[in-house]
Amino acid sequence: MSIENSKYEGIFFINLKNRKIISTKNLTPGKRFFNERISKENNIEYREFNPTHSKLGAAIAKRISLIPINKNDKILYLGASHGYTSSYVSDIVEEKGIVFCLDFAPRVVRDLFLLCEERKNMIPILADANKPENYKNRITTVDVIYQDIAQKNQVEILLKNLDFLKPRGYVLIAIKARSIDVTRNPERIYKEVEEKLKEKLKIIDKKELDPFQKDHCFFLCQKK
Ligand SMILES: C[S@@+](CC[C@H](N)C(=O)[O-])C[C@H]1O[C@@H](n2cnc3c(N)ncnc32)[C@H](O)[C@@H]1O
Repeated sequence: MSIENSKYEGIFFINLKNRKIISTKNLTPGKRFFNERISKENNIEYREFNPTHSKLGAAIAKRISLIPINKNDKILYLGASHGYTSSYVSDIVEEKGIVFCLDFAPRVVRDLFLLCEERKNMIPILADANKPENYKNRITTVDVIYQDIAQKNQVEILLKNLDFLKPRGYVLIAIKARSIDVTRNPERIYKEVEEKLKEKLKIIDKKELDPFQKDHCFFLCQKK
């Protein structure tokens, strides 16, 4: 086993005999929350990041051109659920960064609260991303908005939150075609989404996430 840097800040590959595993440095050594595999080199713990459990992981596996999340960044994470992917974002931004983790489902936010007690750079927020006016006093301007919300109006939700993003800040958004319209061709839906996003953002890259995440497309954009 050996650990290799990747082209993305804070993301490493664990080289096994015949495959590479995506990983991050564990911000909370000795503690894991999702039964993920831990590998150690030079006394540093690396957590396996599974692309079939995370659209961010899938975008990395598909070699998206850039993951604009860096050490010390502030991130607004919309649709954090139990905190699987946001825990890896928390590893990447390290202890001086902040991940504002928002979800509207009380059942998952309960788990998220427990995780955030251990990971001090994660702030849980129980709120509806459709209503930024209800949480605007609890977050600051951010470097990146990450959105993974399977809703019909997922693009509108992002646009409502853009005021939180600094000028030239980045957006990472996972679009689930079937949540927008189950009956239509996903390719067409992605094209329409792209046109809508382009009104406010510059599209830098996009990757369909099959086979890791079926019928999902991941967009990397920058505020104009
Ligand atoms: C696919 S899951 C997110 C998985 C998570 N991003 C991960 O990779 O660990 C989508 C989440 O979006 C949340 N969600 C859907 N609509 C929302 C809304 N309007 N406001 C806040 N959260 C919402 C759901 O409760 C669900 O937990």
